[in-house]
Amino acid sequence: MIKDISNLQVKLQALLASQQSLYTQGKVADYIPALAEVSAKKMGVCVTTIDGKCVGAGDYQEAFSIQSISKVFGLVMAMKRIGDELWDRVNMEPSGQPFNSIIQLEWEKGIPRNPVINAGALLVADVLVSHFSSSKLAFLSFMRKLAHDDSVFIDNHVYQSELAHGNRNAALAYLMKSFGNIQAEIPDVLSHYFTQCAVAMSCEQLATSLLFLANKGVDPRTKKIICSPRDAHRVNAILSTSGMYDQSGQFAFSIGLPAKSGVGGGVIAIVPNYGVICTWSPPLNSFGNSVIGTNLVACLAEELGLSIY
Ligand code: DON
Repeated sequence: MIKDISNLQVKLQALLASQQSLYTQGKVADYIPALAEVSAKKMGVCVTTIDGKCVGAGDYQEAFSIQSISKVFGLVMAMKRIGDELWDRVNMEPSGQPFNSIIQLEWEKGIPRNPVINAGALLVADVLVSHFSSSKLAFLSFMRKLAHDDSVFIDNHVYQSELAHGNRNAALAYLMKSFGNIQAEIPDVLSHYFTQCAVAMSCEQLATSLLFLANKGVDPRTKKIICSPRDAHRVNAILSTSGMYDQSGQFAFSIGLPAKSGVGGGVIAIVPNYGVICTWSPPLNSFGNSVIGTNLVACLAEELGLSIY
């Protein structure tokens, strides 16, 4: 039961104030050096609703690196493009491993556990590279269309930084290629994947762009069909079981919303038939999820009664 959100702005500000000193509990990602340049004290939150409300607090209009949150959008594009064929090449099970783990991929013969761990997202990137004449441009224009904002951009500094430090992703991609599960050339797959991870967006833009997943695949602003209700259901199911990596069980247990994190410190949570929450705070916990971002989603879900279970 969703409670009255009339004074949501005040609530969001109070929530941010309550979390302000907790940035020391996490660590800003530095395995992509450009991400380590962002202040650990940045903090923002935005809530959008399918009936047109948008309320934010803190740094909610400042663009940050969306990183793995991009996997949600890449997945939607690939599902639309090749349909059920996708599920012959990637599974839909939680991995029980860190997001960039390689061990399971060899045991399971190059079939990633799900599309939101790195191996799965690289597989999705291969689908996009192989099925779009310019997959990077297609991705950026999809993001701009969903955000209703042409200022969404690719942060070239972050892209170059990950390109220079992306050996583990290269290893995952080459391993999948050795099993025949990647079609395009690996440098092209990596270049697409690092590009989509380097997209920079604000909490407000992300919370706007994901409303279709809360609305059975339809963008509530334009009434355009972004994906089928079945695909919206499937993406939300994957986000519920795997979106927070090896913390997904705990997240479902204590919060109860489909969600996705990124190592840039963003967290998005879908509230079906209601709206989207997006939070941003760079320090991460050991699972690669934002400490404060996760806390903020937890507090809001509790306060507003948002759990889907
Ligand atoms: O491939 C990587 O490692 C990064 N570009 C994205 C990882 C990520 O965001 C994991 N999320 N918490």
